[in-house]
Amino acid sequence: MEFSTKALTPEKSHGPAAVVGVFEPRKLSAAAEAVDRASGGALRALMARGDFEGKAGSVRILYDTPAKRFERLILVGLGKPDGFGPKQYRDAVTAAVRALADTGAPKATLFFSDIPVERSDVRWKARQAAICATEAAYRFDEMKSSKADPASLQQLEFAVARPGDLNAATRGMREGAAIGAGMDLTRTLGNLPSNVCTPTYLAEQARKLAKQWKLSITVLERPDIEKLGMNAFLSVTKASTEPPQFIVLHYRGASRKDKPVVLVGKGITFDTGGISLKPAAEMDEMKYDMCGAGSVLGTLRAVAEMKLPLNVTGVIPTCENMPAGNASKPGDIVKTLSGQTVEILNTDAEGRLILCDALTYVERFQPAAVIDIATLTGACIIALGHVASALYANDEALASALQTAADASFDRTWRMPLWDDYMEQLKSPFADTANIGGRPAGSVTAACFLSRFTKSYPWAHLDIAGIAWRSGAQKGATGRPVPQLSQFLINRSGKRA
Ligand code: BES
Ligand code: MN
Ligand code: ZN
Repeated sequence: MEFSTKALTPEKSHGPAAVVGVFEPRKLSAAAEAVDRASGGALRALMARGDFEGKAGSVRILYDTPAKRFERLILVGLGKPDGFGPKQYRDAVTAAVRALADTGAPKATLFFSDIPVERSDVRWKARQAAICATEAAYRFDEMKSSKADPASLQQLEFAVARPGDLNAATRGMREGAAIGAGMDLTRTLGNLPSNVCTPTYLAEQARKLAKQWKLSITVLERPDIEKLGMNAFLSVTKASTEPPQFIVLHYRGASRKDKPVVLVGKGITFDTGGISLKPAAEMDEMKYDMCGAGSVLGTLRAVAEMKLPLNVTGVIPTCENMPAGNASKPGDIVKTLSGQTVEILNTDAEGRLILCDALTYVERFQPAAVIDIATLTGACIIALGHVASALYANDEALASALQTAADASFDRTWRMPLWDDYMEQLKSPFADTANIGGRPAGSVTAACFLSRFTKSYPWAHLDIAGIAWRSGAQKGATGRPVPQLSQFLINRSGKRA
């Protein structure tokens, strides 16, 4: 989809479709008021007949209104004005784009800039409009032999009521378009099955991304990984016939001396559990165990398109977790790149094994901050459901910056503790640490395990197990937390610009 902004009022413009909001009960937004005037009172007439109350999520499409400025008028119910916040705004955009998908309109003009949204400015509104529209238009039919017809809606124009707001809106719209495209990439990589999206495929996609967006890239293969001594990573990939890859990408938007923000993504392209085999039910969803890696690629794409003035490095350890005669077995002990030894009590706790070596590896970049993103634990879903990711950090400033970004992007996260008390659960009689800490606080002990490898830099960990994809009828990758990470990097570059 193409996005644009323009200083426009509905009574002075025309086109294939106009979208305006109506509050409940039957309260026209300023733009809707203007449209009503420009269309000979069509909206008020409709409401007088009792056909539209403005309930949240409701949509009506009017054709051939008297003045015929717009071929279609899309009325979107906004719900009650009290408490109209970011969520309600986002839902309204989504409802509008879904409704437009059923029409033949190639272009729509969104008159939402003057709808008051708590704690949100016009840049935010434009950014969210582009993100929500991209999300609503996403299709994944790569693996279907007959593809859905291409959507007719190709252009979304964000109308700005006050010309003075145009710059901010344009900026927001560009950011939203970049973030949306990053999410699309993340979603598609996640949705692709593991027989297509292998570690080698991820490396190829990273190379494509690097070429397109002028990033530098290095991909380490098994011999390099062995030479370095990433034995925890190697212990996971051992029984797979797919070769492991260790992908390193650099986006340079600032001077070489500027320390990078490093994003590390878990890239298990399929997690069977290994010898600690998972149950059969829903095991297909373990193709999504590379969504952390996907979000690193998606965020780098967004950052590159936005040309943010900072340095960002993406690191992706990627392999499969398979059982076989040569697989790691419970009780095996490996020496990590850091030198610490780990007793692998459960081969299904493999994410932390590939991440710990990657987290040691990134020390060489002298990072300003390191954020790892991983579908790490089922326990995280028990704690926070499918609403928020779990945020852990050894640095207060980093934690609060990530929290702020999560709130602003409506890509929610919730801070969790890394107290020493939990470390007890990771004790091993035979090695420096065990790779599991038992059932209680499973997401916390996984994070505590990682914290043993991140002492030399400000570090945060996002457990995205609950938010990276949806199950059931709407099954599919969400593209989260690309909005949060992108917003974090936007804010960070804004502070220094
Ligand atoms: N990839 C899984 C975590 C997961 C499971 C995410 C289900 C989303 C849905 C991870 O590798 C894993 O298997 N974790 C184990 C850890 C346990 C063995 C300590 C888990 O959560 O059961
Ligand atoms: Mn696992
Ligand atoms: Zn896993």
